[in-house]
Amino acid sequence: MLEKNILTATNFEEIASWYEQASSQLGFPEKPQELYEAVNHIMQMKGKRIRPVLLLMGCDAFGGNIETALAPAYGVEVFHNFTLVHDDIMDQADKRRGLPTVHQKYGINKAILAGDVMMMFAYRFISEVPTEILKPVLSTFNRTATEVMEGQQMDMNFETRQDVSVEEYMKMIEYKTSVLLAASLQIGTIIAQASKTDQELMYEFGLKLGLAFQIKDDYLDAYGDERVGKVKGGDIIQNKKTFLAITARNTANEQQKTLLDQLQQEKDTNRKVSETLALFNVLNVPEKTHAFMEKLYQEALDALQKTSMKEEKKAGLQHMAHLIYHREY
Ligand code: IPE
Ligand code: IPE
Ligand code: MG
Ligand code: MG
Ligand code: MG
Repeated sequence: MLEKNILTATNFEEIASWYEQASSQLGFPEKPQELYEAVNHIMQMKGKRIRPVLLLMGCDAFGGNIETALAPAYGVEVFHNFTLVHDDIMDQADKRRGLPTVHQKYGINKAILAGDVMMMFAYRFISEVPTEILKPVLSTFNRTATEVMEGQQMDMNFETRQDVSVEEYMKMIEYKTSVLLAASLQIGTIIAQASKTDQELMYEFGLKLGLAFQIKDDYLDAYGDERVGKVKGGDIIQNKKTFLAITARNTANEQQKTLLDQLQQEKDTNRKVSETLALFNVLNVPEKTHAFMEKLYQEALDALQKTSMKEEKKAGLQHMAHLIYHREY
């Protein structure tokens, strides 16, 4: 058993480092330099590359050729980075991956345009698949990209609401985050020409893993250290209805509820963050968050278990899921 884990861990690391090296051949034009330097600013920051690696692993797990999946893998990473550029404008975030965000460094106009062109390049790279699978790949990607934007709108709508339910939150994070992890896996399986059942199970695996992933992202925004590379407490400052904020409100007594509502109006951001965190702690929000996340993580693994891929490939994806779930940044 131990031997198997070590072996598949190497598989995961192998795919990740192969992607890093192979994708360095792909990229953007040089001119206009003002546009592409903003694009390169985010593309060259060291992200975790979760989505492209999932796409490649999904392809590899069903016997597909990862060379064929390289351009679409890069395409989903470009798309993800595009959403981050625009997300940071919407969230008024100054820091990403430990560096200034694109709009902070180059101004909002360039950040909007850099995002736009990245979206087009994402399509271009994702379209680089054999003609016979172009249609299902593009329709998966189209639907997913639309959902991401719908989720982002829900996320913003919730900033000014106090009564967001866990159900509404789950729909919002499914759209803004999970569907892209799920679609990355699905595109990988389409390239490998896996069966419809396996495609659906892999989508389900990605969806559940993505939900746990976004809840962990919420947790790290409040409780993570400098490795997260973002402004700590950014979600609290923006009145985001994260899993933590919703759980706190659902657990609070009337007095604590009033305090939480008042803190949303607090102008002193240091005070706002530290007092909100103090309330989260009193209300055992971190423990409740972990318990909820754990359930989703297990559901993800259940879906993976049901696929027809070889046991060693399952172990590789379990290992990847473990790394995503237990990450500290
Ligand atoms: C951040 O995604 C945005 C979310 C959808 C939560 P990642 O945590 O994958 O960001 P990078 O690419 O590793 O920086
Ligand atoms: C981002 O959610 C989702 C998308 C970018 C589509 P967040 O706003 O929580 O992501 P971070 O925390 O800024 O990376
Ligand atoms: Mg954000
Ligand atoms: Mg956001
Ligand atoms: Mg976040």
